[in-house]
Amino acid sequence: MQDLRWPTYANRNLVLDAAVFDDVEPGRGSMRVRDREGKVYLDAVGGIGCLPLGHGHPKWIAAIEAQMRKLVAAAGTFWTEPQQQLAGELARRMPWADTRSFIGNTGTEVTEASLKLALRATGRDVVVAFDRAFHGRTLGAIALTANAAYREPYVACLGEDRPAFATMNVARAPWGDLEAVRALFLRYPSRIAMVAVEPIQGEAGVFAASREFLVGLRALCTEHGAVLGADEIQSGSGRTGHFLAWTTLVGDDPALQPDVVWLAKAIGGGFPIAACCARGELAAHMNKGSHGSTFGGNPLACAAAMATLQVMDEEGLLAAARAQLPALLAIAAEDPEPRVKEIRGSGAMIGIEIAGESQPAAALADAMQALGVLVTICSGHTVRVLLPYHAGPAELRQVWTALRRALAT
Ligand SMILES: Cc1ncc(COP(=O)(O)O)c(C=O)c1O
Repeated sequence: MQDLRWPTYANRNLVLDAAVFDDVEPGRGSMRVRDREGKVYLDAVGGIGCLPLGHGHPKWIAAIEAQMRKLVAAAGTFWTEPQQQLAGELARRMPWADTRSFIGNTGTEVTEASLKLALRATGRDVVVAFDRAFHGRTLGAIALTANAAYREPYVACLGEDRPAFATMNVARAPWGDLEAVRALFLRYPSRIAMVAVEPIQGEAGVFAASREFLVGLRALCTEHGAVLGADEIQSGSGRTGHFLAWTTLVGDDPALQPDVVWLAKAIGGGFPIAACCARGELAAHMNKGSHGSTFGGNPLACAAAMATLQVMDEEGLLAAARAQLPALLAIAAEDPEPRVKEIRGSGAMIGIEIAGESQPAAALADAMQALGVLVTICSGHTVRVLLPYHAGPAELRQVWTALRRALAT
């Protein structure tokens, strides 16, 4: 089959056909997919962390079907029940007394929303981002993203560390280095609008921030009047066992929370939807016409997200997600693999780093694919396991066995 798409993706040489429901417990989503030849795989990619319930959870399908028959599109100027319900559910789960949300379609779009919000709310021009950060691929988001291969071709239109108030400027700090962030606040007095941080860097290789780092960022932003923004596109929506990874890493002390949090991926259970949630007083700076999206917050996507959140609650999926990393560590301790340098992350967001000079992860992912397990890679050394939240020891053992066999080949 000829690939008529832009040549932007590495080719995994696999045509995925459908989810497989043969061995799925009634009332659950599937963790397996098959290719066109009928070969079945355990899916630990999940659309890169988009499938917290697995494929085709019956309640998620029923909610989408019902909404599809009722109303699928409505301009943002009209209220719809699913959108207001979702904004309410998000408010219930966010750490502030008053939360306002912009509902969009995809991750990078809500990174952009957070940038506009911070720039408008503060009237400042500098945004701090970190080494290895990934925040998306539209121009504002890519300016925050660290990987030079993604960013460099566009650098002329991004504005990096340049004292020009007409453009947004991005100042970068080493990950985990509070002193470097403090130095940036001194270098750009009253100019830093936002510090944007992934509580767990996903694309970089699954690195969780220390509590001390996140708490220190909170203190610096408060001291200097900057917005503290948490990109929870990958780490949020329950993946670490709390709705926000921030809660997992820092706790729920109201004084230690970010000001803006943005979500995508798992929040829709596989349906494209994203949300930028902010403290009410910050969101008030986004006046009429300052932002919008044709499809953002459409009733269909909101119904899918509502069903996802409801199933997470009903089935205790956050607790199940939380148990995954400890379960994998136990399996690995019983059956150690010397080439594995580290297993890290939190809950159902797991990175397995392979030791060695070369960049073994891509070849390893291909070998695991041949053995019937799909994983994605992040960095040259790390494979990433993003299973549905209800996956347990059986699936984690399958991942581990495939990894060990793949390393032996
Ligand atoms: C932390 C983070 N931010 C932003 C994005 C971009 O999201 P999207 O691909 O939905 O635009 C991703 C996607 O991997 C991500 O992990």
